[in-house]
Amino acid sequence: MAVLITNIGELVTNDPEPGDLLGLRTDAALVVDGTRVAWTGPAAEAPAADDVVDAGGRAVLPGFVDSHSHLVFAGDRAQEFAARMAGQPYAAGGIRATVSATRAATDEQLTAHVARLVQEMGRQGTTTVEIKSGYGLTVHDEARSLAVARQFTDETTFLGAHVVPAEHAEDPAGYVDLVTGPMLEAAAPYARWVDAFCETGAFDVDQARVVLEAGAAAGLRGRLHASQLGPGPGVLLAAELGLAAVDHCTYLTDADVDALRDSRTIATLLPGVEFSTRHPYPDARRLLDAGVRVALASDCNPGSSFTSSMPLCIALAVREMGMTPAEAVHAATYRGAGALLRDDVGTLTVGSRADLLVLDAPTHVHLAYRPGVPLVAATWVAGRPVWS
Ligand code: NIG
Ligand code: FE
Repeated sequence: MAVLITNIGELVTNDPEPGDLLGLRTDAALVVDGTRVAWTGPAAEAPAADDVVDAGGRAVLPGFVDSHSHLVFAGDRAQEFAARMAGQPYAAGGIRATVSATRAATDEQLTAHVARLVQEMGRQGTTTVEIKSGYGLTVHDEARSLAVARQFTDETTFLGAHVVPAEHAEDPAGYVDLVTGPMLEAAAPYARWVDAFCETGAFDVDQARVVLEAGAAAGLRGRLHASQLGPGPGVLLAAELGLAAVDHCTYLTDADVDALRDSRTIATLLPGVEFSTRHPYPDARRLLDAGVRVALASDCNPGSSFTSSMPLCIALAVREMGMTPAEAVHAATYRGAGALLRDDVGTLTVGSRADLLVLDAPTHVHLAYRPGVPLVAATWVAGRPVWS
């Protein structure tokens, strides 16, 4: 069944032209056939279809690709956030509070909680989400976290190396052996990716390398958390290993920027974290000017960034990180897809998966121009409305 979406005031295709990063088409139309985009072009030339949707002159964009989230958890850490806003610093150790709550939750509770957050994301235009484990940190709890995540996305990431859990505090090397041995074995059937938190207070670069290499040997692709709380060697490791993405990148050295420029690794910036931890925002302008490919993601998690909103991330990236509205939208769609090594999402061209959002505004610019306003009027995944 073919559906014509017509009277699109501004269509973001992400099929760029010189001077037009987003491949913008005005007075456009798009035909969805089944799960895919079958045609795009001027509204006046649109072919007939089984059904017609009038976009009313509003903007239509590819759905957001949120390439970094930690949705499988229980409890919240509102008091920790309040304490931070009263002057306490953020520390990686806060993760352990969520680990206790997550272990105590049933599978049904975790599933219902992820469902609620995925739905919340959908209402804000996210159509692809990556979900990590990392709040279980036992063989059983990591495997079940990923089994829960798998019900919602194929982009699941094993993050047993999130932090050393309290019961292994005296033996971090033993914990890394567990992560790279039985935990990986139990997790791998449910995971596409492997990740580690390479940071002071979590895992050092040698431990991160061992985890990523073990994951690769088990068939998982690598991504990494690095340079969130201070400069460190994780970004260079990610570039050396050619990982799909290195995430946070808040504190970068010139050598990090050079290595990213010379690699195929995407730098994924997570401004919800800086909002929620009062760290300085990462310098997206520096990265873009150096020729680094930059993605934006929410990092939705109960500790450092409890937002599911890609529109918020776009607004922060424009206001605080030196990105133009077009660059921020590109980073939240096309580059997010790149960070997941996906070429079927993040674009609206013939053959793309028909994942899109209708903005209650005439242009993508409104995502930053009207911060905090619920502008997403409808979200479609694989050719069907999931929310309107
Ligand atoms: O990406 N950096 C490590 N993990 C999360 C924070 C997790 C937490 O504080 O619970 C992050 O920011
Ligand atoms: Fe994270």
